[in-house]
Amino acid sequence: MGTIIGIDLGTSTTEAAVIKDGKPVMVVNPDKEIITPSAVGLDADENFVIGARAKAQYLLSPEHTAVEIKRKMGTDDTIRLGKRAYTPIALSAKLLEYVKTYASEYLGEEITRAVISVPAYFDDIQRQATVKAGMEAGLSVERIINEPTAAALSYGLLHLEEESHILVYDLGGGTFDVTLLEMFDGVLEVKASSGDNKLGGKDFDEKLVEWLNEQFMKQHGVDLRRDRYAMVKLKEEAERCKIALSTQDSFHVLVPMITEKKGKPLALDVTVTAAQFESLVEELLARTHRPIDVVLADSGILPSEIDRIILVGGSTRMPIVSKDIKNYLNIEPSKAVDPDFAVAEGAAIQAGIIQGSIRQEESILMTDVNPYTLGIRIMDGLTDERMSVIIPRNVTIPTTRSQVYYTCMDYQTEAHIEIYQGESEIVSSNHFLGEFIIGQIPARKSGAERIAVEFSYNINGMLAVKATVLSTGRDASVEIDMMQETEDSKGRIDVTGWKESSYAKQFRTIIRRVERVLKEPMTDDLFLRGELDDALYDLKEALVNEDLETAQEAEEDLLELLEEL
Ligand SMILES: Nc1ncnc2c1ncn2[C@@H]1O[C@H](COP(=O)(O)OP(=O)(O)OP(=O)(O)O)[C@@H](O)[C@H]1O
Ligand SMILES: [Mg+2]
Repeated sequence: MGTIIGIDLGTSTTEAAVIKDGKPVMVVNPDKEIITPSAVGLDADENFVIGARAKAQYLLSPEHTAVEIKRKMGTDDTIRLGKRAYTPIALSAKLLEYVKTYASEYLGEEITRAVISVPAYFDDIQRQATVKAGMEAGLSVERIINEPTAAALSYGLLHLEEESHILVYDLGGGTFDVTLLEMFDGVLEVKASSGDNKLGGKDFDEKLVEWLNEQFMKQHGVDLRRDRYAMVKLKEEAERCKIALSTQDSFHVLVPMITEKKGKPLALDVTVTAAQFESLVEELLARTHRPIDVVLADSGILPSEIDRIILVGGSTRMPIVSKDIKNYLNIEPSKAVDPDFAVAEGAAIQAGIIQGSIRQEESILMTDVNPYTLGIRIMDGLTDERMSVIIPRNVTIPTTRSQVYYTCMDYQTEAHIEIYQGESEIVSSNHFLGEFIIGQIPARKSGAERIAVEFSYNINGMLAVKATVLSTGRDASVEIDMMQETEDSKGRIDVTGWKESSYAKQFRTIIRRVERVLKEPMTDDLFLRGELDDALYDLKEALVNEDLETAQEAEEDLLELLEEL
């Protein structure tokens, strides 16, 4: 089994790390940089360019370049690069493929396994989309880890003995997240999470852009917002200025030929002081307070009970951020972790725990929540389609839960245990995970024998299911790797982008009609239903591939099946 890497797949930047000699080490990309811009583009020859090259071409060719792909993960939106539209999953996969390639190069071994971090607020669909992107990039995603948990882990590895409440404050490029975790006996538990997904470094840049433009208008009577090229330059310069002001008291913004007036070039030439910048962004910092309050209230923790504040995200390098936190909570934020690397390091630590390359005594236990309801098929009155819930969704894992069931037929000597995940009460609408048979049940009247079914779901996504005949103690069991289960059991690709097909209009009505039928809770004929689902997928896949002939064939199949129903 090869090395598992940890990846922080960010909105603005992406980083990877790996465990060496028990400690996380950052992976260096071909540009000799640890930080890779999360940008994907097509060059003039329609070849993909990733990272710094893509970010550089964004200025010149925004219509061929995608940034902030992460914001669209889990949606049906597509992203246009030139003539073609791509799903967010496909473009994230390009980014991950790039990371996989340079990590393999850097580490001198083929990397095929990863732990990828996601924001704590990501829902199931966004998490699944992330796993799919990993798989499309040729990575087996061993685990999805929450970003704040990862950051706390990179802190926790060095401070295992501490019993503490840790507040992770993550101000990135486009989003702000606050999470409160509790650490005791080497167990790290997320207590509460909140944030603002429209607050980040970009907004700080924007404040400077507005202010610089005002200065320019005063000097030259020209509004730069009317000149697209000038705005691109201005934004770039504003970010540079902001970053410089993190370490110096003033910065001279100078762009010799930012625009022209009556054929004469005009220069942007303004000096910005740290104090000026501070007053410009005061209002943005004030917006961080509410999510902090929410997290404290939700976890029932007083500010005085916070033992440690960890800063994560490039934007926390601004000195005013620490100052504002100090003012608001009266706690000095810790400098113990690197704000740019903590999340990737934490993902690598998680990878190391899975792999056993972090020693047991250093290993930190984490809790997480189970994103789906898990249960088995049972007979209930007239139907044998009923889902009986054993582990409800959002229960903290690791967890073990069991239920006792009765035999439902006279002289029944075996029981089929079919395991499903999903939110429907009807098992055929849920996702089938696996099955096994428990035999040698004493032959007695219906309801006379009891069988306990126990589900144990651990932190690495393994679900162990055991059935025990209570009268004899005989048992049988099966283990399911939930991380492998996120791939569609039929090996399907993502076809949500069918709407972008040039033939979409022609097939829209039939697709809607079939989708309506499939949504109806119970159809008499489950076999037909499955056929219908398959044919619908075939049609969408054909549309994604712009294959009219196959699409027409699938349409005919669908019409026949509807007829039969
Ligand atoms: N020294 C610095 N001073 C101020 N801001 C900085 C500094 N270095 C980086 N930044 C800002 O940090 C932001 C990028 O942060 P980061 O890489 O943590 O974001 P991300 O994790 O990709 O995005 P998100 O967390 O929103 O998903 C950018 O807005 C960048 O301008
Ligand atoms: Mg981030």
